[in-house]
Formats: sequence, C-alpha cells, structure tokens
Amino acid sequence: IDEGHGVKGLSDLNIKTLPELFIQPLEKRFDISKVLPDEFIPIIDMSNPEDPEVMKSICDAAENHGFFQIVNHGIPLSMMEDVKDAAHKFFALPVEEKKKHLFKDGTVKNVEYLTFRPEVDKVLEWRDQLGCVYVSDAEAMELWPHVCRHQFLEYMKKSDSLIKRLLQVLIHELGIPKLDETNQPFLMGLRRISVNYYPVCPNPELATGVGSHSDFSTITVLLQDEVGGLYVKKFESDNWVHVPPIKGSLTVNIGDALQIMSNGRYKSVEHRVVANGNYDRISVPIFLNPRPCDVIGPLPQVIMRGEKALYKQVQYSDYINYFFSKSFNGKDTIYFAK
Ligand code: SIN
Ligand code: FE2
Repeated sequence: IDEGHGVKGLSDLNIKTLPELFIQPLEKRFDISKVLPDEFIPIIDMSNPEDPEVMKSICDAAENHGFFQIVNHGIPLSMMEDVKDAAHKFFALPVEEKKKHLFKDGTVKNVEYLTFRPEVDKVLEWRDQLGCVYVSDAEAMELWPHVCRHQFLEYMKKSDSLIKRLLQVLIHELGIPKLDETNQPFLMGLRRISVNYYPVCPNPELATGVGSHSDFSTITVLLQDEVGGLYVKKFESDNWVHVPPIKGSLTVNIGDALQIMSNGRYKSVEHRVVANGNYDRISVPIFLNPRPCDVIGPLPQVIMRGEKALYKQVQYSDYINYFFSKSFNGKDTIYFAK
C-alpha cells in the first residue's frame, strides 16, 4: 500500500486495527461529551431569496454561527444525487486510474487526487480527496476524471446563481451594493469542487476524518450524504454542534477570506469530521476563493465606516500555501493575516 491506494486502500484490506500513524493523540480525539445535542446551526429556506427576512437570516447566520444550512435553494435533488454517485465512482476507480491525478512533488495542478500527507502531518487523517479547479468547460472536459466530470460541471453551473445570490446578500450588508466584475474576482475568482471520501475506519474513536480547521475560502457550499459526522465549533466555547444531514439541503460556511474582508464581522468557524466505523461517507464542497494573485484585506467599504482594520493585507497565494504547509489546527491560519 502506498499513497496511490489512499486511505481507501487501507480500508479495503479490512484491517481490524487502525495503523499507528493514524492514531490521534488524546487531546486531538473527538470528545463526544463536548457535543451539544440540542443545538443546531440555522436552517434557511431560500424559496424567496429576495425576501428581506431571508437576507437578514443569511447575514445573521454568517455573523453569529459562521455555518448554516439552506433548503429550497433551486438545485434539483436528482442532480445532487448524481454528483454523489459520480464522486463514489471516482474513488471506486482502479488505483492506476486515480494515480494519474495524484498530487505529488508539491506541484499544484487543476485536478488533484490527494490522500494522507506524511510530509506535513505527524498523525495522518482518515480521508481521501479529489479536487477540481474550474477554469473553463473545455479544460474540465479534458482534464477532470471522466467518471465525474459531466456531473460536477453541471452541478457547478447550476449552483452558480445560488452562490452569487449568497455572496450578493453578504456583501450588500457590508456596504457593497452588488456583485460585479470589480469584486467578483476576489470573492469567487477561483472555484474549486472537491470530494472528501471517508472510508469505513477500524477504531474510529482513535482516528480523525478531518482535524479541526477553518476553510480559507470566502464561502464554501457543501453537499453531504446521509451518514453525518461533520461537527462545528460553537462560538467562544469548547463545544461542538452536529450538522445533521437533511435530504436536499446544502451547508454553507464562511471562510477565512471573507472573515478578513469583512474585518471580522462574518466568522469562519472551526469544523471537523469524525471517522466512522460502519459507513463510508462522501461530501462535496464547492470552495469559492479569491484568485491566488489577489491581495486580500479588510474591504475599504468596511473600513470607511471608521472601523480599525483587524487584519493586514496578504497575498492570497501566500495564505493558501501557509494553510497547506502545516497540520490543521483550529483557526490558527488566520493569524497569518494578523
Ligand atoms: C472539510 O471541512 O474539510 C470537510 C467537510 C465535510 O466532509 O463535511
Ligand atoms: Fe472545511
């Protein structure tokens, strides 16, 4: 078994004990007693996205929770099912096929199959990943894995107006009248669809699916299957809240880039995924990011209101490189912009 086989390769061996490299130190294991069973992130009905009440609840959720679910968002259920099926198909491919996309030598490509990262993580995560950056339809049809490219591309296209709507509502509240060609590049100039695949894990309580982190995006729109296991840290506490799978819903979260741009008004929030001993889990996030060439910082429209800037200007490519250069550890990436 090498990296090309991924965590799935280990899971397929039906091993009964977790390999040592995946055993988390005690303090990084998930403590189920820290879960607040009666708390949930907001669920927002997007049937009337122009309704002022709906817009207010989106901004409130971004400020006070950093995470929310949306329902009646206009993406057909059948399309979401097709995306999850296609995602499963990629991970079911023969190793040689997946290896064609393997991330190696630190060379960043627009399509990447990634798995455990022994060069960065002292303790490995129980997850495989596929990431596809959207550049053009033509490139996607050429480079994205053939078993999922149609489904991913259609889903990205279909979700575009929803994403724009969400960003539009969020920036309007910050004093920016609308999403246009001047701000769209740094709000969603780099769009990446990704798949997290968490195979069945022996000793799930000793492992982690994904360690606690906040995303470096402006926003992330996540499609998850029915297995569950995504936990969000409750503000200013040591407690965790589960994001329950709701049929047809999408989960939206604020990333570091929007926290920085909004000068701390919108919050990117720590989240993690536990490993599961009985089921494989799939999740498909779309990350909306500034372009690597952008320099990001608190937006002038926000600072104009007399606020003191809480973050400095940073080159976004440096921010991304910093994020990937270290193990996930809560919200510590954002100190890069302090
Ligand atoms: C992540 O935040 O990296 C994964 C989220 C998920 O799988 O639900
Ligand atoms: Fe994340």
